Amino acid sequence: MHGITVRKEIVEDVKAIDVVHMSAFEGEQEVGLIDSLRNSSAFIPDLSLVAEFKQRIVGHILLSKVTLQNGANSTDILALAPMAVVPSQSHRGIGSELVTASVDVARKYDFGAIVVVGQPDFYQKFGFEAAKTWNLQCNLPVSNDMITAMELKPGCLGSEGHIIFPSHFERVY
Ligand SMILES: CC(C)(COP(=O)(O)OP(=O)(O)OC[C@H]1O[C@@H](n2cnc3c(N)ncnc32)[C@H](O)[C@@H]1OP(=O)(O)O)[C@@H](O)C(=O)NCCC(=O)NCCS
Repeated sequence: MHGITVRKEIVEDVKAIDVVHMSAFEGEQEVGLIDSLRNSSAFIPDLSLVAEFKQRIVGHILLSKVTLQNGANSTDILALAPMAVVPSQSHRGIGSELVTASVDVARKYDFGAIVVVGQPDFYQKFGFEAAKTWNLQCNLPVSNDMITAMELKPGCLGSEGHIIFPSHFERVY
């Protein structure tokens, strides 16, 4: 979208990011999630991105570390959550720009995949595929139909993975 800048969050953005999530989700759960993730080893500063429009923060996306267990193997991959755009600016492509930009940044890191819990129709536009493609399960109480994933390194997700989200996510799901 014309006039939108997507960039890494800085400390001065924190309050505005909270406002974005409170208005998009109509509650404070995601703000609590982001706050606890920021203070955890799962947080990667370069993967917390804001969308700025006319010097105002109108969107935010966070990718953080989760564990993929494949048999005896354990690997860090990324989870995309949460993401939000202020309702007054939604349906203009800002969410799509945030997803695309975050995937680009994620590719620069040595992670093998990104997983997301959310509307599959939205995420499939960017190349995310249904969890059943890899027989993925996760430790959150969500329907498997709501989980999609994208491999950044072919073969990373294997054929029977279990994704462990850190306990910070329990406040949201
Ligand atoms: C989901 C969300 C980030 C999309 O942002 P956006 O800037 O409107 O996204 P885009 O304009 O790039 O794409 C719009 C598409 O998003 C999808 N979408 C809209 N609301 C959605 C929602 N609540 N959940 C998932 N996808 C949604 C639709 O496919 C929509 O297509 P349309 O405009 O043709 O109807 C924004 O609607 C939002 O903040 N929703 C509330 C919070 C949320 O559900 N976050 C995602 C889960 S973590």
